[in-house]
Order: sequence, then C-alpha cells, then structure tokens
Amino acid sequence: MSPPFALGTLCVHAARESDATTGAVAEPIHLSTTFERDADGGYPRGYRYIREGTPNRAALESCVAALEGGTAAVAFGSGLAASMAVWQLLGAGDRVVVPIEGYHGTLRQLHEYVRARGVEVRSADFRNTAAVAAALRDGARMVWIETPANPLLSITDLAAVSSLGRRAGAWIACDNTFATPVCQRPFDHAVDLVVHSATKYFGGHSDVMGGLVVIRDDAALLERIRQWQVLAGAVLAPFDCWLLRRSLATLALRLRAQCATALELALFLAAHPAVERVYYPGLPEHPGHAVAAAQMPGGFGAMLSFGVRGGREAALTVAARARLFRRATSLGGIESLIEHRASIEGPDSKTPQNLLRVSIGIEEPRDLIADLSLALA
Ligand SMILES: Cc1ncc(COP(=O)(O)O)c(C=O)c1O
Repeated sequence: MSPPFALGTLCVHAARESDATTGAVAEPIHLSTTFERDADGGYPRGYRYIREGTPNRAALESCVAALEGGTAAVAFGSGLAASMAVWQLLGAGDRVVVPIEGYHGTLRQLHEYVRARGVEVRSADFRNTAAVAAALRDGARMVWIETPANPLLSITDLAAVSSLGRRAGAWIACDNTFATPVCQRPFDHAVDLVVHSATKYFGGHSDVMGGLVVIRDDAALLERIRQWQVLAGAVLAPFDCWLLRRSLATLALRLRAQCATALELALFLAAHPAVERVYYPGLPEHPGHAVAAAQMPGGFGAMLSFGVRGGREAALTVAARARLFRRATSLGGIESLIEHRASIEGPDSKTPQNLLRVSIGIEEPRDLIADLSLALA
C-alpha cells in the first residue's frame, strides 16, 4: 500500500493482510525460531531463521516504511540499538556533525562510543543554520538531526540543514521520534535515514520497547543497516513486533488528539503566573515556530516543557502534586507523564533545574488542565 492512501488509512492497512490459511483478520504471532526448507533446499516463503527475519518483523518494517514514505525499514530491540546501527556507517577518520541538544542517550553514544572508534564528533547549535554551515566547513560523512529536540523542543530547519549537509557530502539522518510521520515527514526534506524509538508513540501504551531505521531509497545503505541488524543480533522478538504493528493502527488517531491537547496545555501554561517559560513549538513565541509550522504540517507534537518560577525545588513540588500526570520518564504513551528532566539526565545535565517535561496522553484536556492547575497553585 502506498499513497494516494491517507496516513490514517495506511496506519490500519499497510502490511496487514488477513491470514491466508485461516482468514484471521488480526495478524497471528509467529513464534517459530526456524522455518522449513523445501525438498530442493530453497526457502520459497522467504524466512529461514528468526534473527534474520520473521513474518511479524516483516509486517512491522513494511508498515513503518510505508508511513514514513521510505523504501524499507529495519527494526531493532530499542531506539538506541537503532541509532547504534547508524553509527556503524561511520569509520575512523570520518566526521559526524551533531546537535548540542538531543536525547542524552544518543549524545552519550556519540561522545563516548563513536568518538572512541576514531570518528570526529563535532557539535553545533542546530537552531542556528549558520552554525551548522560552519561545522560543515571541512565536509562530513553524516549529519544527525533531532527535531523537535529533547528536552527544550528546539527546532532544526530540516530542508536547510539537509541541503547544507548534502553539499558537504554527508548522509542526513533524522530522529523523528517526537514528531512521528503523523506530524513531520523528514524524507520530504531530502533526509536519507529516519530513526525512531518505537518505545514511544509507535508502541503508544508504555508496554513495549523497539527502534527502527527507515531508508529513503539508498539500496547500499539499506544493505549495510540490515547486515548490522542480523550480525549484531539486536532484534525484536515476534511478540514485540506484533504489539508495535497493532499499536501503529491507532498512531494517527492518537497523535492528532495528543497534539491538540498539547497545544491547549501550552496555552494554559503560558498564561500561568507560576510558569516562567513554556517550550512548545506550536506557540508563536517559540523561536522555531515559523520553521515548525512549515515542516510539521500534521501538528506540533505532544511533548512540551516548562520552567517553574522558584527553581528546582518548586519544579519538584509541582511534579509531586500532580495526580493525573504520572511522575515517570519516557513519552508517547496514552497516559500523560511529568518529569524533572535534569535529575533523570544526571549530574552533567545542562537542562535547566526548574524544567519539567511533559508527555501528553489521550486524557480529556480539561482534566489535564485541572490537574496542572492544582499542582501549580
Ligand atoms: C528522541 C529519542 N530518541 C531515542 C531514544 C532512545 O530510545 P530507546 O529508549 O527506545 O532506546 C529516546 C528515548 O527516550 C528518545 O527520546
């Protein structure tokens, strides 16, 4: 399935056929680790051994490729296993240009593991296209983008940075976890690889971990990522693939509701006297708003952060008083979460100490607003 179907239709139908032998409409879970050969030694059904591929993994990968508009996707055991696969494209002497702001686990991979392999990891402020251009002055093998970025929801201009990277001879990779293909389609902006933590919106119910690399059209890149998947062995179990494919059916429905609620909450928080600042790209005062409005046609996402007047203690008190928002890390589930981000990132965190990050779920907006209203009172 491919366009002209709308995204919400693809979520339901992409790579989801009724079972050929039983007619079951819901996809069965194939737990088998091994698949039978024909008498002549061939594998006419395409499956040989679980690490190399399974029907449930194939369904998940095809569905995500269709949603992002890429040619193929490769599934991993977590979002960080997926980004680790991307770093394998780099070798000693290569340069990767990365943002200062991003998921702290990804940045730790880059600064601790990728650098140790002899790759130059050069950081720039991706909110500023001129700073990215300066970082690319000597060329680069790869540019890594995360937009909106953790934890301040900063926006990178995808088209501008892709074109700079391309001119510098780099592959462009984008972590699209926060936006999902519902809000933003990086392949429309000449990105080569899209990476997801499927643990977030794809799973959507805080009960499954996974990651994906989606390839726009480069067959050689796909081959290298697939080879890493099979040989590193960081693959998903069939049940996890099944859970993810099942949840993707409601991705567009969930995201649209979550984005609308996030905007309502951002407006509420921006007008609240106990709030110092709101970080949400849907607000006109957000520095990246104009770029976000252009490159996120499906919505501004359902993640937002805010600074509480009174510093760290005041922020921790607000989080402690919330009743409906659960105090937990992660994001993208049906339930709203609130977290004091600096303390989860550890002692080296540069995140403001008064910052609370929230992941908006699918609850009714008025109940979430009432909860934050009481917590901030
Ligand atoms: C934007 C982003 N990318 C990647 C990851 C890593 O994903 P995982 O926890 O599935 O390894 C996270 C996790 O929070 C994230 O927020």
